[in-house]
Amino acid sequence: MNIELAKIFKHKAINTWGLLLVFAVPMCIFNYLAMTDTNISSPEGVSHMISYSVRWAVPFIYLVVAASSVKVLFPGVFSSWWMRNRKYIGLVFAIGMAWQAAFIFILSTFYRDYYFSEVYYFRDEVEGSVGYIFLVAMVITSFQFGRKRVNQAQWKLIQKGGIYFLWAYPFSVYWWNLFYYPYVESYSTAELHDYIFYWAGFLAFLLRIAAWGKTRNKALKKSNQLESPSGLELCLGVGLILLGLIASATGNYWFDSVSSLASFPAWSAEMALWLPFWPLEPFMPLMLIAAGVGVATKGRSLRGAEVAKI
Ligand code: HEM
Repeated sequence: MNIELAKIFKHKAINTWGLLLVFAVPMCIFNYLAMTDTNISSPEGVSHMISYSVRWAVPFIYLVVAASSVKVLFPGVFSSWWMRNRKYIGLVFAIGMAWQAAFIFILSTFYRDYYFSEVYYFRDEVEGSVGYIFLVAMVITSFQFGRKRVNQAQWKLIQKGGIYFLWAYPFSVYWWNLFYYPYVESYSTAELHDYIFYWAGFLAFLLRIAAWGKTRNKALKKSNQLESPSGLELCLGVGLILLGLIASATGNYWFDSVSSLASFPAWSAEMALWLPFWPLEPFMPLMLIAAGVGVATKGRSLRGAEVAKI
């Protein structure tokens, strides 16, 4: 049975370029059909296509983010297949984003007045442009000709930094759509896709934290030079994880006070005008959870023993 499954997951139709086609062809067909069904000779229609096309791309960046963690948490043929094809899943995301980029180009070139009155906001522009710069650099350096032009550290920075940034962008968009706009703008209500994309992005990152915790725990158990966290540390860790989980579903209750506090120093309020994602409200629940996992899996060196490097 397992051998059969392993054989299926090695089939070339669902690996590398074959897999890319499986995802990219329907994505392009649906984008094309939606485009022919939308009045893109109006700026509103183009704006609609910007949102529509990016919804096809977003699931694939989430799949890329989760790939390595799923392999750590659930080793097996499926997770190995997922991990092996991470680069091609990333390229599908890039194709989805190329559709969005084309519509952004149309809007900002042919409907400049609309673009600058309805869309342009400096910080969003910086965030979006950084996202696209990362995306282009990631695509180029995922092929041999681009990879050999950067050293190992630069490659890691581009790929890892890009994955985190391009996950953070949609995740935060949907966080604002759920927990902020419906409460400050009477015409805005969260829709089903906002919930799906927010929770899917949350889960993708949660898996990364869980995989990190599992790796730390394993190292802790293996090491004979470290002792396990104390009962107090475990309680604190679990408490932080629970707090993070509660906060992840209740942003509308804490947003106001936390945001005012985080933007209280003048330098922080200033940074919020241009620094992407600052002051990081959508990410705070995940930070709490990561801190909790860190505390609950932190080993202390035994008295007199050398500190082992985890
Ligand atoms: C300079 C670059 C960018 C510009 C000008 C831009 C512009 C836009 C516009 C006009 C919308 C539609 C807003 C509306 O419905 O009123 C939108 C939505 C969105 N964009 Fe971008 N964007 C950029 C880059 C990016 C990047 C890099 C990402 C990363 C994945 C991204 C993700 C999204 C998401 C998730 C939505 C919401 C889609 C939905 O309604 O479900 N954008 N963007």
